[in-house]
Amino acid sequence: MNIAIIGTGYVGLVSGVCFAGLGFNVTCIDINEITVSSLKSGRVPIFEPGLSALMERAVTRGNLTFQSAYGAAVSNADIVFLAVGTPMKDQAGEPDLSALCKAVDALAGALRDGAVVAVKSTVPVGTNEALAARIRKLRPGLRVSIASNPEFLREGSAVADFLHAERVVCGVPDDRSKRVLTAVYQPLCESGSKLVFTSPKNAELSKYAANAFLAMKISFINEVADVCELAGGDITDVAAIIGMDNRIGPKFLEAGPGFGGSCFPKDTEAFAAAARAYGVPSALIEAVITSNNARKLKLADRIIAALGADCEGACVAVLGVAFKPDTDDVRDAPALTIIPKLQAAGIRVQAHDPEAGQAALRHLHDVVWCDTPLDAAQDADAIVVLTEWDLYRATDLKDLKSRMRGRFMFDYRNIFSAASACAIGFDYTGIGLSPQADDAVFEVLDAEAIAKRDHDALDRTCSISGQDLVEAG
Ligand code: UGA
Repeated sequence: MNIAIIGTGYVGLVSGVCFAGLGFNVTCIDINEITVSSLKSGRVPIFEPGLSALMERAVTRGNLTFQSAYGAAVSNADIVFLAVGTPMKDQAGEPDLSALCKAVDALAGALRDGAVVAVKSTVPVGTNEALAARIRKLRPGLRVSIASNPEFLREGSAVADFLHAERVVCGVPDDRSKRVLTAVYQPLCESGSKLVFTSPKNAELSKYAANAFLAMKISFINEVADVCELAGGDITDVAAIIGMDNRIGPKFLEAGPGFGGSCFPKDTEAFAAAARAYGVPSALIEAVITSNNARKLKLADRIIAALGADCEGACVAVLGVAFKPDTDDVRDAPALTIIPKLQAAGIRVQAHDPEAGQAALRHLHDVVWCDTPLDAAQDADAIVVLTEWDLYRATDLKDLKSRMRGRFMFDYRNIFSAASACAIGFDYTGIGLSPQADDAVFEVLDAEAIAKRDHDALDRTCSISGQDLVEAG
């Protein structure tokens, strides 16, 4: 089967490389010549674990190519995926569909009769229908099926998410598109993925609803964390306990500095804008947006307040500027709000990120970029952890502390143990952790663990009584 993919951003490139990895003939098309020539020379423009190796193998095998022209690649394709960006248009939150419309206009001339086009870009409900009408206007009489095929992969684990998707959602207008999408995704079903067919509108809605729900889950746990801090609780224990209820589930309950990235902030805004447009404003999602924006500023204020009168001229080491680990993406990352707020208070910022420093240069100014976390900590009054890179977890706290001038640690991803940090002399602030928390040990026992515990206790009793006998004896 021949596949054409329009757009080589996160979704397009990962999908193209993975489809090629599954054995399809894939042509990735992008109007950006620089991106195309970079891809042709084997350079992957984004940092995504596993992507580069998979891409190299497919290119060497000869079933993955890159180009900027639509032409033959589109007319020979059994299916064309649209994966161009739909960024936020304005403050009102509506997505900008102009790139998508341009791509459709450019594509229309090359489509063959009976073509199937699947929209992977995240789009408001009704967009599929509108795109179909747009093509019909440009090519009256052409039989074309426009299906919705939203993508649920996460940055940082995009390849695995694509190849082991829990569900692949296909909003299909007809049997032809259903047949072609089944053929394309059959290899994933063989390794356990479920193919879900529904209407295009349901597919479009489910993408926004999924992201809005996950964002809401994060904002909720962040609010619980705030209460834990004041009430003497520990958010990691509370999250673990509520997550054991499988109606809630354990994922996306990590409290932190607020969600970022290219999807949740944009998609919650778009969902809220759509709800307003339909006259049913979403009080919940509006509140999630407000709460998430306020959170980043509040966490910056906490650092400024701790540094107090010494704020002006103080130095803060920021560890991590990517919106999450294993990506070089800084879009809407908490660092982009927190760092400027610290700088506005007169604080000098020294920062480190293993991958995202380059991408952050465009957004952050007057930051001293350091090669290692230890260099960033040099003479700092406070350390602020904003991304939970494994590299930071592996950093020796004593080494970090020894480089510093001050002793504040704001671990906004809870990657260090509060007890260990305090023992070393840090003035430690985590998220959702109260200094007044009871010293209870969190423990989960099942029948097997209880039996083992009883057995170990019995062993201990026997060895003590044996020893007592010897001593008595
Ligand atoms: C998100 C969704 O998870 C994907 O399913 C979806 O396909 C994608 O958006 C998209 O629409 O394209 P992504 O933005 O890559 O994926 O990242 P996530 O792993 O979802 O994290 C988003 C943000 O939430 C990050 O800032 C992360 O730090 C934060 N987060 C996540 C938390 O603060 N706590 C958590 O428990 C989980």
